[in-house]
Amino acid sequence: MSTKWRPATQLVHGGTIRSQYGETSEAIYLTQGFVYETAEAAEARFKGESEGYIYARYGSPTNDMFEKRMCLLEGAEEARAMASGMAAVAAAILCQVKAGDHIVAARALFGSCRWVVETLAPKYGVECTLVDGRDIANWEKAIRKNTKVFFLESPTNPTLEVIDIAGVAKLANQIGAKVVVDNVFATPLFQKPLELGAHVVVYSATKHIDGQGRCLGGVVLSDKQWIDENLQDYFRHTGPAMSPFNAWTLLKGIETLPLRVRQQTENAARIADLLAGHPKIAKVIYPGRADHPQADIIAKQMSGGSTLVCLELKGGKAAAFALQNALDVVKISNNLGDAKSLITHPGTTTHKNLGDEARAELGISAGTLRLSAGIEDTDDLIEDFARALDKVPG
Ligand SMILES: Cc1ncc(COP(=O)(O)O)c(C=O)c1O
Repeated sequence: MSTKWRPATQLVHGGTIRSQYGETSEAIYLTQGFVYETAEAAEARFKGESEGYIYARYGSPTNDMFEKRMCLLEGAEEARAMASGMAAVAAAILCQVKAGDHIVAARALFGSCRWVVETLAPKYGVECTLVDGRDIANWEKAIRKNTKVFFLESPTNPTLEVIDIAGVAKLANQIGAKVVVDNVFATPLFQKPLELGAHVVVYSATKHIDGQGRCLGGVVLSDKQWIDENLQDYFRHTGPAMSPFNAWTLLKGIETLPLRVRQQTENAARIADLLAGHPKIAKVIYPGRADHPQADIIAKQMSGGSTLVCLELKGGKAAAFALQNALDVVKISNNLGDAKSLITHPGTTTHKNLGDEARAELGISAGTLRLSAGIEDTDDLIEDFARALDKVPG
């Protein structure tokens, strides 16, 4: 097993633990607990004097393989696999703050992530300031003496805004705060937050890592010291561990991640180009296009475009609904990163709870749609959009 392999090789072989049977595919260890040869062996395991598993809430072999493979891909020392992306986000933030601490977060966050910092954390005495994360000066202005965590996603859901991760990390390092990056939209292939100076990376593995709509999952990655000092006890004692069955499903998903993401990105780029010139479309935001408002930051920190496209129809909600209803290959669904192309209307689904004012602040209008491009034949998708746009009134 080499740590020098390139990502596509790591994702097929990295972290594999073979049993005595020498199975080709990774085994699923569906067990809650483990037996010990002797009482002394149990004692030593619990004291941390001998290596081995204790209880599946703490860790187990299939989850271990998934965590090790993710570490190899991300360039992280340690990872913890969690039951969902939200379990991972909540753990990454809550495990490292206490009453009296302060969080600065970008206001453009997935709705549930925003709820964790804006509503949940203050209930426990942790205040949060939300900023327009695109301007680094806003992060600096929000810093207080008790600021402990900076939290952001980039590109953002759904308007694909981009935040200068290295810039935020530089500020955080000046005050000893930690930067947590939700890297779901970029994927671990196109953006490496740890290399850019972030301290903790989180994923909803439900998205590109599974990529085939089968199970929920999440993962938190960082250095060993941060995990030992912050996450380890939280993880063991609050119980967000991933099911070993899901860890196995995700291990299988991860093997084909580069193939899927490459095809999805090609499809997204072609669709973005088609939409950008269409008379019924007011705006297209796509991180792979030169007209993205932050193309300079994208060039600095991302090595690929995106599997997602944000589009705004001139005809508002009626037009956005008409387009969704007229699409055939593309399905209406609020998930993303899937092999199937999926489209959603954030204003009435994923970002419904934000309210009109917060949505307007984030640039989510009644005509905004978020497309997650799948791996279908590009021409079928292009024809689907062209045909559906013809049916949109106006
Ligand atoms: C950016 C982002 N972070 C976190 C999550 C939460 O992930 P999960 O649904 O796996 O809990 C999602 C989507 O649901 C997301 O889009």
